[in-house]
Amino acid sequence: MSPLSSKTALLLVTLCATLYCVPAIPAPSPTSTAVGTGDLYSAVSKLQLKVEHQAMLLNSQSLLLMQQMQLLNQQKQQLELQKREHELQKQQIEQQKLQINQQRQQIVQQKQQYKSHFPPEDCKSLLVSGKNPLPGAQIKVTSSIYPYEEAARIYSIQDGKLSGSWAPQTQNRYQWLQFDFGRVRKITAVLTKGRNIAIGTGGHKYPQFVQEYQLHYGNNTLLMRAYQDVKGHIQSFPGNFDQDTIQENVLPSPIYARYLRINPVLWKGYISMRADVRGC
Ligand SMILES: *[C@@H]1O[C@H](CO)[C@@H](O)[C@H](O)[C@H]1NC(C)=O
Repeated sequence: MSPLSSKTALLLVTLCATLYCVPAIPAPSPTSTAVGTGDLYSAVSKLQLKVEHQAMLLNSQSLLLMQQMQLLNQQKQQLELQKREHELQKQQIEQQKLQINQQRQQIVQQKQQYKSHFPPEDCKSLLVSGKNPLPGAQIKVTSSIYPYEEAARIYSIQDGKLSGSWAPQTQNRYQWLQFDFGRVRKITAVLTKGRNIAIGTGGHKYPQFVQEYQLHYGNNTLLMRAYQDVKGHIQSFPGNFDQDTIQENVLPSPIYARYLRINPVLWKGYISMRADVRGC
């Protein structure tokens, strides 16, 4: 029989007080004085075994608990790491967001540039006297009998100041009315009218209008080229047949240019023309 260690003895005492000892060791009574020390000894050693067993159990449980604590600690550390990674990723996402916003702005700018180079198909605004009229200074002619900058506009009519149209001094095939759009525009159609005359003025009706014209265009007035048909011949467009009806010619293929000249080649009475163009 090994002697009780002090630790086990302590446990034994505690357990005795609470559970085992009381029923296991009946209080000596006058009638049981016959109980031998041998019995007592074996009861105590049984108890000792039980206590040792329990101590082992407790030990292994505390080991388990320690292991679990270590595991929890490790998990905590991993969570801390993940948290930091998340913070980093968050920052990266913020930076990417910023970059994406910058790229968006660039795309918007590029779209605008693209649009000005390749305007939408519906390209029918009046470029001379529409919503954003050209200043008179951007309308030029070879020569003119009357002030023409306002009279040449498609909607102008004869009144005290205006003659009812542009009318050059010279009557030949080399006269033109030029529009400077200030920048390259896409031109899709040309509109013309003859000379407006208030009926009854001096008893004359002046049936003056352009019956046929050609177009010249360019980005530099020294390098103007004639509008040609698909066969490479200079194209003549049908003009007016009276003084006040708009004649509109849609161009078979649009012109991209800053300057456009309308060059009358056939006329009735006198070269007299009001004009505008469609484009964007
Ligand atoms: C005018 O410039 C634009 C843009 O640079 C170009 O696309 C167009 O072809 C030019 N027009 C002429 C008639 O040279």
